[in-house]
Amino acid sequence: MLRRLLAAGLFIAAGTLVEAVAESYDYIVVGSGPGGAPLAANLARAGYSVTLLEAGRDLGDNKNYSEIYNFIAAGNDEKSRWDFFVKHSNDEAREAKYEKTTWRTADGSFYVGLDPPEGSTRLGIYYPRAATLGGCAMHNGGICTLPNDADWDYIAEITGDDDWLAENMRKYFEKMEANEYLPPAAPGHGYDGYVNTTISDPSFMKENSDLQKLTSQLIAHTGGDAGRDVNAPDPDRDQSTGVFAMASHADRNGKRAGTNTLLKRTLADPAKFNLTIQLETLVTRVIVNWEDGKPSATGVEVLRGSHQYEADPLYNGSKGQFGRIFARKEVIIAGGTFNSPQILKLSGIGPAKELEEFHIPVVKDLPGVGENLGDNYEAGLQALASKPLNGTSGATVVVFLKTPTARKVRNIQAWCGSFSFEGFWPGFPTEYGPSQYECAMVHINPRSQAGYVRLRSNDPQQMPEINLNFFAEGGDEDLTELLDAAKTFRKAINAAGAPITPFDERHPCPGVNQNCTDEAQKEFIKLQSYASAFPKVPGAFPVCPTFMLAEKASADILADLKKED
Ligand SMILES: Cc1cc2nc3c(=O)[nH]c(=O)nc-3n(C[C@H](O)[C@H](O)[C@H](O)COP(=O)(O)OP(=O)(O)OC[C@H]3O[C@@H](n4cnc5c(N)ncnc54)[C@H](O)[C@@H]3O)c2cc1C
Ligand SMILES: *[C@@H]1O[C@H](CO)[C@@H](O)[C@H](O)[C@H]1NC(C)=O
Ligand SMILES: *[C@@H]1O[C@H](CO)[C@@H](O)[C@H](O)[C@H]1NC(C)=O
Ligand SMILES: *[C@@H]1O[C@H](CO)[C@@H](O)[C@H](O)[C@H]1NC(C)=O
Ligand SMILES: *[C@@H]1O[C@H](CO)[C@@H](O)[C@H](O)[C@H]1NC(C)=O
Ligand SMILES: *[C@@H]1O[C@H](CO)[C@@H](O)[C@H](O)[C@H]1NC(C)=O
Ligand SMILES: *[C@@H]1O[C@H](CO)[C@@H](O)[C@H](O)[C@H]1NC(C)=O
Repeated sequence: MLRRLLAAGLFIAAGTLVEAVAESYDYIVVGSGPGGAPLAANLARAGYSVTLLEAGRDLGDNKNYSEIYNFIAAGNDEKSRWDFFVKHSNDEAREAKYEKTTWRTADGSFYVGLDPPEGSTRLGIYYPRAATLGGCAMHNGGICTLPNDADWDYIAEITGDDDWLAENMRKYFEKMEANEYLPPAAPGHGYDGYVNTTISDPSFMKENSDLQKLTSQLIAHTGGDAGRDVNAPDPDRDQSTGVFAMASHADRNGKRAGTNTLLKRTLADPAKFNLTIQLETLVTRVIVNWEDGKPSATGVEVLRGSHQYEADPLYNGSKGQFGRIFARKEVIIAGGTFNSPQILKLSGIGPAKELEEFHIPVVKDLPGVGENLGDNYEAGLQALASKPLNGTSGATVVVFLKTPTARKVRNIQAWCGSFSFEGFWPGFPTEYGPSQYECAMVHINPRSQAGYVRLRSNDPQQMPEINLNFFAEGGDEDLTELLDAAKTFRKAINAAGAPITPFDERHPCPGVNQNCTDEAQKEFIKLQSYASAFPKVPGAFPVCPTFMLAEKASADILADLKKED
């Protein structure tokens, strides 16, 4: 009897008999973002039983999420928000100058700024994440740009696996894409996938408007055109600079496509794939089984219930129902940049010293887990024109630059239009009205990769410590490159002439004269830059590359299974 019960997964938590029948699947996938969703769908479609565990709830039918243009509302919506707060460095004086520093006031609300009311506690720099079915692809800006080919080729070089070469990674993009902006059979694109792609409509270039004039100047100063395909399989794409259309993972009706829509389609498929999605299920630990001195992951422990994680604004310390779920083949962790290393560490996989500090039994001493956190630096040239800017709203273009000190490949990706993007804080962004114009810049090859995600405690409901350690190495070169890019954009937009000019610049050189030293502008960029955190994964915009990684991972898992047979 005891044996049978054990085989059925009897377990006891806090002295109570909880459950007698073990829940098991071939695969457990943790996290339903661009990393986890395609893996879960592909493995289920290949005939395996799969459970997808997601801490958040399903908001796919809520217009904040289903309509891509509502991304700012989605980003501020407490139904999905996970509020992380990070540091940009260990330099307290530098941290203290970050203008959008967030504090918890005595009455429990947020204060954003440098002069908090008495009794406030400093939280840090806000990094939002979405805990919902589909992950951050449900609230992100939706920009889909493939990385430089050099970024994929680098992974091939360090792993010795040629499938990572850019020319071989293309097939994964072709598989996932449902292109809606090119004529059929354009090389390097797909038409039958689940990530619908569309571009910003270039027809605004035919109108007599201020936005058309500004974009014309961007083209005159950097090259390209407003309809150019940013994801074309150009053999020389790493050197290809100037203006492109902005591509998004949304369909022509502005509906967000990718994670949530793929999962829904997989569940609804008449083929009845064996996919079980479990929402409001926080994975707290991987269960490890030892055999012949070798560990293997055989399942996960979970807390079932809503608002189980400290980053959730509605978290109140309540502990959901404990549970265990088993996997016959593999446990796949795709919890995003902050949560994947946390889950691994809580499971005893990480730097032994850190694990011991929190009394976590070491399964595998892997010093790299949660270390070498790399990040793109983001900064913006933002200015107010002398008049309200007319023209089609949404007339936003992408611009690539290769500044004079760039190494080998283009190093800046920007997007320019009449909007305001200055990073994230609770309640972001600040709108400056119809005269606002910005070229938001991403440095796509930062020289430093010294950030980390470390445990604060062994309590899986608590957030880890996150420090991005910006500019730790090669900072001056990276800042020079961002400043050179800002100068190019400043020159271009000022060339639009009256009545649009003069611009009253907000940053990095405030005022109408733009009379600042290089040092002052670099200091501004250094103190106020921000980014979407990302470990060493290619590109300026990680979402489409992450879909490709998930496609490669599922293809590799299925190929391994074939070999085993
Ligand atoms: C505000 C914002 C804007 C962005 N804009 C863009 C953009 O325009 N273009 C672009 O390319 N990229 C953008 N990104 C980045 C992009 O969305 C992410 O790189 C991408 O979503 C990462 O995918 P992921 O699957 O690794 O992680 P995520 O999307 O973070 O998904 C992880 C999922 O795992 C779940 N999870 C975490 N821990 C647990 C646990 N313990 N148990 C159960 N579930 C768990 C989370 O709830 C979440 O649903 C943006 C990101 C943000 C936050
Ligand atoms: C789906 O998978 C579960 C877990 O492995 C299993 O119990 C169930 O029988 C499967 N359903 C079908 C229809 O095969
Ligand atoms: C959308 O998000 C906002 C917060 O940004 C929230 O106030 C609003 O209720 C949400 N709308 C829906 C339909 O959930
Ligand atoms: C926009 O404003 C300019 C003046 O800056 C004017 O010449 C032009 O006709 C206006 N265009 C539209 C579409 O309103
Ligand atoms: C994406 O394209 C498919 C057809 O390829 C279509 O059925 C679907 O409605 C489109 N939109 C979304 C959000 O998936
Ligand atoms: C705490 O949160 C849980 C889960 O959302 C909820 O069920 C419970 O009512 C909350 N308790 C209090 C005191 O607010
Ligand atoms: C620019 O600033 C310097 C130093 O503050 C000042 O001496 C100079 O007059 C300014 N030039 C203009 C054109 O405003």
